[in-house]
Amino acid sequence: MTTTSPRDKNASRDVEEAAIIAAKPDVISNTKKVFIKTYGCQMNVYDSERMADVLAPIGYAPVETPDQADLVILNTCHIREKAAEKVYSELGRIRQHKEANKPEMKVAVAGCVAQAEGAEIMRRAPVVDMVLGPQTYHKLPEMIAKVHRKSGEVLETEFDTIEKFDSLPKTRNVKGFSAFLTVQEGCDKFCTFCVVPYTRGAEVSRPVDQIVMEARDLAAQGVREITLIGQNVDAYHAEGPDGSEWGLGELIRHVALIGGIDRIRFTTSHPRDMDDALIKVIGEEPKLMPYLHLPIQSGSNKILRAMNRDHTYDHYKQLIAKIRAARPEIALSGDFIVGFPGETEADFEQTMKCVEEIGYASSFSFKYSIRPGTPGASMHRQVPEDVKQDRLVRLQALLYKQQEEHNKSLIGKTLSVLVEGKGRKGGQLFGRSPYLTGTHFDGPEELIGQIVDVRIEEAGRNSLVGVLA
Ligand code: SAH
Ligand code: SF4
Ligand code: F3S
Repeated sequence: MTTTSPRDKNASRDVEEAAIIAAKPDVISNTKKVFIKTYGCQMNVYDSERMADVLAPIGYAPVETPDQADLVILNTCHIREKAAEKVYSELGRIRQHKEANKPEMKVAVAGCVAQAEGAEIMRRAPVVDMVLGPQTYHKLPEMIAKVHRKSGEVLETEFDTIEKFDSLPKTRNVKGFSAFLTVQEGCDKFCTFCVVPYTRGAEVSRPVDQIVMEARDLAAQGVREITLIGQNVDAYHAEGPDGSEWGLGELIRHVALIGGIDRIRFTTSHPRDMDDALIKVIGEEPKLMPYLHLPIQSGSNKILRAMNRDHTYDHYKQLIAKIRAARPEIALSGDFIVGFPGETEADFEQTMKCVEEIGYASSFSFKYSIRPGTPGASMHRQVPEDVKQDRLVRLQALLYKQQEEHNKSLIGKTLSVLVEGKGRKGGQLFGRSPYLTGTHFDGPEELIGQIVDVRIEEAGRNSLVGVLA
């Protein structure tokens, strides 16, 4: 049908075509190209894949660069000022490309900046045709039709997480052997530094059946490792097949029953919501990888209180002790913020002490970034930039040393590695250890997609080198 309707004939033809495309998704072949650029966390990676799934039935094939794209989607992150500002510089480049090469190209801003700034984005960057928040991407076909109808501002920022998940295509189009699967979205914790409760909305858990169906579909496509994701994934709760309320632990055990799925991970955990039932599963479920991301943010009880984290350092320490008792080989990763308002040198030293005492195999550490609309933004005693910088450098020196030590402790050990693809050098393969460390070793390409044993011979801060065991 596209061949008989030249697109530039007149505006009403456009309307008709867009409406037909939206109404009859399955009759269109892939004739258009979409470029999706992803910023931010794992959930945005998941969301970008799902946006591609939503667009495939209406004729869009994904491409790796914006050059040939008919539609560009920026899936954005609002977590720190720098992340949010990146979007506008990218939009500047896209505008130039559009004006010079592809005037008919459409531009969408999705994700957390879209939710936080809404119509303001179009005012600041008129190149943008659509703005859609994280709970609205199932509406993309409708929105694209509207843009083609030129019916004014196209903006969707409603929170309807359930409707979104119910409307997504039942099958996913995945590449590779490891996939993210959103089980819970949104956050009710309201840490005083964080925008996520405002950009993702309230905590919502997806039904068990929907998750299991999606996991089975992934397994059928060759996925071997699934990471169950949620902003506050430990808060997962939904009705299980037996009618009782299931938490994350039961869900993990159930996903572990799926043939083909050999590795399970989950992220991100909150120290407040990690209960004994989940710790028991961490201790007992062999498919669960011995690697846990459990952010504390600060080691100072005063700062934890000001952050509204609702737990103390002692609580965290005891929790880690329980988890290590249940699964002695577990490696930990954490998030840290330095320079939260009111943080003194003594508070910062508590964070250093926490890192010394706990010991992390990997970590993410940030300077506090003031986010508009959060309680932290209006707190007194903001910490000067040079102090934040100095603390970040000191903290990272310690964290990086621990990371390298952890990797070096693996020398001589045999680890299971999920082979993701070819390595940098000829004959080399690349995969991930149970601790997510990138691992290189020599081997035949037939091993790609398999889980193999690798004996570690060399270790740097960020990667391992070994031989097939
Ligand atoms: N629970 C969440 C955390 C999301 S944000 C999750 O699902 O991943 C990831 C990390 O960014 C946080 O743990 C925190 O360390 C950091 N972060 C969040 N807001 C920040 C801010 N305003 N300034 C600096 N770092 C921040
Ligand atoms: Fe943000 Fe805190 Fe919720 Fe994590 S738990 S998403 S840091 S508010
Ligand atoms: Fe960023 Fe939104 Fe994720 S703010 S970290 S993309 S939840």
